[in-house]
Order: sequence, then structure tokens, then C-alpha cells
Amino acid sequence: MSPGEDPGLMPPEEFLECLFQWFAHNRRDLPWRVEYSPYRVLVAEVMLAQTQVPRVIPYYCRFLERFPDVSTLASALREEVLLAWEGLGYYRRAHHLHEAAQRIVERFQGCIPADFETLRRLPGIGPYIASAILGIGYNLPVLAIDTNVRRVLSRVFGAGEDVNLREIGNLLISHMPSGKARHLNEALMDFGALVCLSQKPRCSLCPFRGFCTFVKDAGRESRIRQQRTLLEICVAVCCAGEEVLLTRSEGKLFPGLWGLPFREQDGEDPRAWIDALGERYGFLPLGFQECGVVAHAYTRYRVRARVLRVSGKRTGMLSEAAWVAFRELPRYPLPSLFRKALALVRPGEYRP
Ligand code: ADE
Repeated sequence: MSPGEDPGLMPPEEFLECLFQWFAHNRRDLPWRVEYSPYRVLVAEVMLAQTQVPRVIPYYCRFLERFPDVSTLASALREEVLLAWEGLGYYRRAHHLHEAAQRIVERFQGCIPADFETLRRLPGIGPYIASAILGIGYNLPVLAIDTNVRRVLSRVFGAGEDVNLREIGNLLISHMPSGKARHLNEALMDFGALVCLSQKPRCSLCPFRGFCTFVKDAGRESRIRQQRTLLEICVAVCCAGEEVLLTRSEGKLFPGLWGLPFREQDGEDPRAWIDALGERYGFLPLGFQECGVVAHAYTRYRVRARVLRVSGKRTGMLSEAAWVAFRELPRYPLPSLFRKALALVRPGEYRP
């Protein structure tokens, strides 16, 4: 790569491989990582929410000794819980934790729910703690994005807004080997806490520095490189009756995620590409229509997408394609660029 050339988005498989290798040598031994259960994760994350790791450690160990499971905590007196919390501060957390334990016993027979929305309705459990219980406690494919993880992803992938962070999170989750959610969550947390520091990042130790959007200049402190590269693409919304074709993305944008077929624009007539799509995905294109252009910022790219509505018929069933009814689409985790394209094709009917 020549100097100044855009290195592009770090391929998610490569990112995961480097991160896991780094984690194998640098994992922090912490008491909530000795034995896993959703309850242990709940207690640890509530304590860690406003307090640094070294300070939490002795409190966590004493708390778990005194209240080893959710039913012991639920049946304890409020004063006992507060006593165990004394010195840790932010006592509302202790009240909420106690109330949450009581509700878990009353409504869920002592079993911590493995469902995001149900967890969110428990006292003191916000989106981050709910995700940590699922991703770490239950080892389900969920990423818990705290400030450390947010910083790592924004720097390495240039992800800015929440939507982008979620898309990057989905990308990593979809490329992660199965059963590795806990590993991924902890590796990202440790990397943010030990290398990708907020004030003085230790870039010389970072395996991602070739891709990172964060630059350190000699004279100045650090800053995020803001310029985004313009990427012009053409997106095909292939429709057969009420169904639309979804494929797995390839290349620079959303690699490996389900979405609409697209290619980088080269100014050519799209007919040959549409025919090739038809052959590849078992679809007979009968005609197409230009629907307009949508703009979207994704990691280091400023994407301009020309949207085509292609009508045709299905001719076969191929494993690398999925045909989904328009009304079912809101249930699919599609990148928002594609949601915008779908909204352009079905104005008023499909809301991104
Ligand atoms: N900070 C917040 N949650 C954490 C965890 N589970 N491990 C280490 N640091 C954390």
C-alpha cells in the first residue's frame, strides 16, 4: 500500500483473529471471570457501571460470598445488602439490584431472563447491562457496547454514530466463531482498557494500527481522522411479486452480512450486471427502473447509492440467496443503507 492510500475497512475476520490472539496473551484475570453465570455477570456489571475495576474486586468477592445466588439476595434484608455495598457509592444501584433479584424470584422462578426486552424492564438494568448478561452471562451472540468498546470500534472502524456502531457490532457478531460471544465481549473490553486508552493510547502495541482511523501527530495529541472516502455504488432491489432478494454482501461494505445486492458504480449501463445477478441468484429480470439516490455514512465511507428497482420472476432456490416478503423485512437486521434504499422503492409502505 502506498503512503496516503486508504487502507479500507479492516476485514472483520482479520480483526477477530488478531483480537483473539491478543486476548490469549493479555486477558485480565478477574473474579467475575472465574466462573460464569448470569447472576454473577449481573452483580459485576452493576458494580462496574460507575466504579473502576480494582475498586470493585473486593466488593464483588464479599458480595458473592454473602449472596451466592439470586434467591439468597432476594430474601436478604435491605440493610444487609446496603451493608455489603457500603463504601462502593451510588447506593441506588444496590436498591435496584435487590429489587431486581426479588422480581426475578417472584416472576421468573429465580431464573434471570435471557431476553433483552424482559431484562430491560427490571430495575437498574439498562441496555448495556442487559447486553452484558446476554453476551457474557448466557454467551449469546450479543455485543455489550460500553465506553471502552465504543472507543475501540470507533477508532479501528471509523464508526461514528450509534447506527454505525450497531452495524459494526453486527458485522463482528456475524463473523465470530459460534460460542465465542463471551470471548469477544471480554476481549474488546480488555483491549479498550489496556491498549486503546482514551487519553494516551498505546498504539505501538496495537495490532490494528495499519487500519486505524485514529492518528497521532508529533506536535498534537490524538484525533480521529474525519475525512470519509466517497464510495459510489449501485443497489438492486430485485422484486418477484411481494418478495425481495437478499444476498450476502461482499467487498468493502458490510462483508458477510445479509443485504441487497450492490456493486461499485462504474458508470456503465447496469443491464449486464442485472442479468448476471439473475443467473447467480435464480431470478429472471424482466425490467428495471431508477428510483433515485440515497446517501449514507458508513465507517470511513461516504456512500452514494443509486437505487434500481428490478422486477422479475424467481427461477430457482439458491442457498446464497434469500427471498423475503416485504412485510417481513422490518424483522431482519439489515444495514440502514439498505433500509433507505427499500424505503425509496416502496415509499409510504416501508419505513426505515
Ligand atoms: N468493565 C465493565 N464490565 C467489565 C467486565 N465484564 N470486565 C472488565 N471490565 C469491565
